[in-house]
Amino acid sequence: MDTLVIDGGMPLHGEVRISGAKNAALPLMAATLLAPGDHVLHNVPDLRDTRTMLSLIKTLGGDWVRQGGTVRINTDTLSGAEAPYDLVKTMRASVLVLGPLLSRAGYARVSLPGGCAIGTRPIDYHLKGFERLGVQTDLAQGYVEARVKDRLRGGVMYFDAPSVTGTENLLMAAVCAQGTTLIQNAAREPEVGNLIDMLTAMGAHIEGKDTDTLTVHGVERLVAAETSVIPDRIETGTYMIAVAACGGRVLLRDSLSQHLVALSEKLRRCGLIIEERQDGILVFCPEVAGSSLCALESVDITTQPYPGFPTDLQAQFMALMCMGEGTAIIHETIFENRFMHVAELNRMGADITIEGSRAVVRGCGRGSLSGAPVMATDLRASASLAIAGLAAQGTTTISRIYHLERGYENMAGKLQALGANIRRISG
Ligand code: EPZ
Repeated sequence: MDTLVIDGGMPLHGEVRISGAKNAALPLMAATLLAPGDHVLHNVPDLRDTRTMLSLIKTLGGDWVRQGGTVRINTDTLSGAEAPYDLVKTMRASVLVLGPLLSRAGYARVSLPGGCAIGTRPIDYHLKGFERLGVQTDLAQGYVEARVKDRLRGGVMYFDAPSVTGTENLLMAAVCAQGTTLIQNAAREPEVGNLIDMLTAMGAHIEGKDTDTLTVHGVERLVAAETSVIPDRIETGTYMIAVAACGGRVLLRDSLSQHLVALSEKLRRCGLIIEERQDGILVFCPEVAGSSLCALESVDITTQPYPGFPTDLQAQFMALMCMGEGTAIIHETIFENRFMHVAELNRMGADITIEGSRAVVRGCGRGSLSGAPVMATDLRASASLAIAGLAAQGTTTISRIYHLERGYENMAGKLQALGANIRRISG
């Protein structure tokens, strides 16, 4: 089993290029199923999840080639409309092929994703939205079978919660529907905006980008287009938190500060200096009394849909608060089981107690964590353990790093270049 071995205590200095966003690349890849022709996607991160999506597109009859950060996808001939369990179970975002297949072929059979470490992850909002467009959905043998008799028709959908992939799936189903579709309480994440830009470049007519109300005027057909994946705000935030935890001074190249307002506000309150630069975000810890690191203020957070504090940065921020000077309350409101990192952080010397959807983090100050063998349980929990290991005294070994490699491109290499003592061991 592959592991990460980290000898903690080193500050981070230099610059790191932020990769394209996993959670933008996945819907953009699914959208190539909407129209034949040669689609070109730039700045696509090379991750376990993007490789899984490309495998799924190939299973459906598409073809692709990667040239560096650019992926060319051709979907002239779709030979199937089924996303099999063995692919979907490894990546919930496979459900994103439902919308484009319904639009392109009028039919799709996709394995239900099932739950994952952080929650049950239902897709009832997706199915309800499709039904509003005239789709019939049936659940059998762990699969959802969706079909539409002739053409999708415009409808109105109100999301009980602003589901990110639910909004993306419905957008892709609606772009060629007959008539107009209104999506209310839509997700406003930048990744949804990236998809809207791609669909518009393909010929779609969508109003309300970056708001919670989207209007889609159906068009007859779409054509292949060329699009760039936006920078990964969660990767950016992860490295910002790592600098706050370890000290140092790092330029996060190609990152967009406007996507990280909530996190930046909290990190400034902790004591981090964050400066917008022409080519990215510069972050550093002020040093006091010579080279010692500034004390970390303990700051409460509540996760919320964008533009609130991202649930995907909750675990990483919790690792930082373990080194705070006081007590921080971490309130997770999006997923029901996103505290899997707590037990492992406590094994490193943290003092965290869970009370329902809140974690009470009693900070023990800088240098309070000690290295230990720990196990990754999900993508962002593994990033949390990496941050803790970077700041801990001694050696941390993180097992099951396939979780981490689903969503972070070459984390060990990027951190080594910043001066961290970290290495990936193939097991
Ligand atoms: C997206 O997941 C992201 N994944 C997640 O990132 C992210 O944590 C999440 O949005 C919230 O921001 C991708 O974009 C590929 P939701 P998604 O639908 O769309 C409930 C990561 O670490 N819900 O916005 O699956 C759901 O249970 C991953 O990169 C329903 O009840 O999340 C949750 O409580 C993890 N029924 C809430 O809504 C539904 O049909 C928000 O989920 C859909 C969602």
